[in-house]
Amino acid sequence: MRKKILVTHTLPGERIHALSELADVNVWLGPGLMPADSLREELAGCHGLVCLLTDQVSRELIEASPDLTFVSSMSVGVDHVDVSALNARGIPLGHTPGVLVETTADTAFALLLAAARRISEADCFVRQGAWRRENRWSPDFFTGKDVSGATLGVLGLGAIGQAVARRAAAFGMRVLAWNRSPREVPGVTAVSLEELLAESDFLSVHLALTDETRGLLGAGRIAAMKPGAVLVNTARGGIVDEHALAEALGQGQLYAAGIDVFEEEPVPADNPLLALPNVVLAPHIGSATAATRARMADMAANNAIAALNGEAMPHCFNPEVYRDRG
Ligand code: GLV
Repeated sequence: MRKKILVTHTLPGERIHALSELADVNVWLGPGLMPADSLREELAGCHGLVCLLTDQVSRELIEASPDLTFVSSMSVGVDHVDVSALNARGIPLGHTPGVLVETTADTAFALLLAAARRISEADCFVRQGAWRRENRWSPDFFTGKDVSGATLGVLGLGAIGQAVARRAAAFGMRVLAWNRSPREVPGVTAVSLEELLAESDFLSVHLALTDETRGLLGAGRIAAMKPGAVLVNTARGGIVDEHALAEALGQGQLYAAGIDVFEEEPVPADNPLLALPNVVLAPHIGSATAATRARMADMAANNAIAALNGEAMPHCFNPEVYRDRG
């Protein structure tokens, strides 16, 4: 009997077409993202799921899908998936590390530069017609904060954190980093979390969202950041307390922020960060180049193809499920 798999969105890349040679493929064609109740209905009876980070793969969904044998997410982060529920069933979870590293580091650095040099504010100023003859230029006109010579703190020194560190070094920054399990990276000084907060003029977050990192940058740690610092977050919203951040930015304790990810996405209109001119905002576009998204889709398809062929996924988040199978 041919296996059935569900793909929750049309995907770019080439490899996705190879899936239909191996299984009956049901692709959600929209409009928009697949609603949770349709996901639940369509997944019942499927052997595999290829999903996005917007699909909540909860314990309840997994338990309601008795035939499920693999999940492949087109994302590096897997905080939308209940991994322990998958582990309990020995179900491998594919994800897409590596291919989005440079693209996401570019986004982090773009936000860092934009926040430092007030690019969003300046853009609005020009578009709104506020730039006039009488304020054409002056010594203190749109002054920002220097990046060159400043200290960057990298919170989480995985592949993306290291790629941001390389960019920072090229911009003449001193680079400090904190990682839960200390890592030696040339050109990067490992420090304690307290030192990182106290010394960084720019702090860029590159941690996965887990039970340990949720709320890591709460009010106390935000208050411990160097006065006048800039916070950049391209990792996950739940790591930073957005209300405490908004307060610190509003009171001038922090200079600015560049934020691509939010606790709730899409970000609600009453999120206090949206009211602050010194916050550069983006709608979770860290890996959003056409080429990188195609590479991610190919990787997600390759993980699914391996699973359908009875092989280990090349990029498996929970490879212990294979070991446990013996
Ligand atoms: C993006 O946030 C991803 O996890 O791939």
